[in-house]
Amino acid sequence: MSGICAPSQELLHRIDQLGRLMRPTPLVEVAVPDLRLFAKLEYLNPVGSVKDRTAYWILRRAAQRGEIDERTTVIESSSGNLAIALATYAQILGLRFIPVIDPNILPTYESFLRRTCQTVVKVEEADERGGFLSRRLQTVQELCANTDRAFWTNQYANIDGMDAHYHLTAEEICRDLPALDFAFIGVSSGGTIAGMSRRLKERYPNLKVIAVDAAGSVILGGQSRKRHIPGLGAGIVPSLLSHALIDDVVIVSEKTTARACQELLWTHGLFAGGSSGTSYAAVQQYVRQTRTTAGATAVFLCADRGTAYLDTVFNAEWVRRLE
Ligand SMILES: Cc1ncc(COP(=O)(O)O)c(C=O)c1O
Repeated sequence: MSGICAPSQELLHRIDQLGRLMRPTPLVEVAVPDLRLFAKLEYLNPVGSVKDRTAYWILRRAAQRGEIDERTTVIESSSGNLAIALATYAQILGLRFIPVIDPNILPTYESFLRRTCQTVVKVEEADERGGFLSRRLQTVQELCANTDRAFWTNQYANIDGMDAHYHLTAEEICRDLPALDFAFIGVSSGGTIAGMSRRLKERYPNLKVIAVDAAGSVILGGQSRKRHIPGLGAGIVPSLLSHALIDDVVIVSEKTTARACQELLWTHGLFAGGSSGTSYAAVQQYVRQTRTTAGATAVFLCADRGTAYLDTVFNAEWVRRLE
């Protein structure tokens, strides 16, 4: 594992340059009844998702504290957006990155990682519960122990991952919107909702934060069940969630998520991924159930693009087969 040393001025300089590529993402209005609804287009981040913020901020803070330098190997267990973002930013910064992935990874993501990283470690064997998480984490521990100057970004517990959304994602909304009544935020590692809820509630004291989860995830008290759409949900309660300020919870089924993704595309011209549909569906469910939103302003995130979901939520036959 890497220790703490004096911050590398060369790396800090490269990170400053990278920071210039992290442009603010737009808020666009989505026409719905009874609400002024804005979508924040996180899919317009450089590598295409809200996890760009997480990757950038974790590397930046680690460099400022002297925990990483030009000789560091970054290691993370991720088969999704965080791996893609870390791979890209490590490359830009001249660092090595080893993603630990599993067979559920999308082929396009795997080929991106194999083109970008010298080493990709794929865990092939499932654990006793049929999942890959514990095997992936065990592999990360082994890699860290056997790699010189290894740095594990530790997305499920890293406070810097949550601070990314305090200082960047939420801060931009604070600058853009004079008033905000509701924020609908999806949960997986909990970093996005933890950071955003804390900053948004400082700026808008009457704001209600609605946590959005996928049916089958246990994060917000649901029953564990097989899930098919990546992005939201988890089989564990992540420790970052304890930092989130949550007023209400909406759980959305996968069928409803798919329908909402299609509505975002065909009605509102937003080609967004699974968690965007889940969050948009949560807005609709909440408006129907509470009837407290007339004239209010609300925001949700379009966390990634729809392209990676063409064979799932945008495939009518696949959607029909969902329970
Ligand atoms: C597309 C997408 N949306 C939302 C989230 C949830 O973010 P967080 O992990 O910060 O809770 C993720 C996390 O992987 C994601 O990939």
